[in-house]
Amino acid sequence: MKVLIVYDSRTGNTEKMAKAVAEGVDAEGVGVEVKKVDEASVDELPEFDGLILGSPVYYGLPSGKLKDFIDASVKYHGKLEGKVGAAFASSGGTHSGAESAIIAMIEALLIHGMVVQGTSGRNHYGAASVGAPEDADIETCRKLGQRVANLVEKLHG
Ligand SMILES: Cc1cc2nc3c(=O)[nH]c(=O)nc-3n(C[C@H](O)[C@H](O)[C@H](O)COP(=O)(O)O)c2cc1C
Repeated sequence: MKVLIVYDSRTGNTEKMAKAVAEGVDAEGVGVEVKKVDEASVDELPEFDGLILGSPVYYGLPSGKLKDFIDASVKYHGKLEGKVGAAFASSGGTHSGAESAIIAMIEALLIHGMVVQGTSGRNHYGAASVGAPEDADIETCRKLGQRVANLVEKLHG
């Protein structure tokens, strides 16, 4: 079982979140690979059981680079059904687009036929953080990773 985390980050905030999400996946004993979007290839997608996308919030949406990755994933349209999906985002301010950016990424994962689990706790849609992630944000990211790992185990273990 293996989870791929693909993220974009210009000033390092989303990157810190990506590392924390990876720690959460790893803590549950599921394999994890973390790739900056410039180094990621959609050709890897079929071999993973889960895909977690992370992006800075640009005008309430994921970055163009992250969207390019999503668009390139059409190559495997129909081949990713039933894999686990999740998303996280870093914004510059509160209530200024993080949730819409997360939902936009989740929409793409759903269109691929992936399974996305929300949470009744805070950060229902995925992990959101403002600026440099603080300890509580890092914890939220770890929990997201754990949630994905647990679902991967249930569905693919
Ligand atoms: C082109 C651009 C657009 C942005 N748009 C938003 C926005 O709509 N809402 C917001 O809260 N922050 C916005 N920001 C701020 C970034 O989301 C924020 O600084 C984020 O933490 C950067 O993540 P990174 O360090 O991983 O690059 C924008 C930044 C840039 C460069």
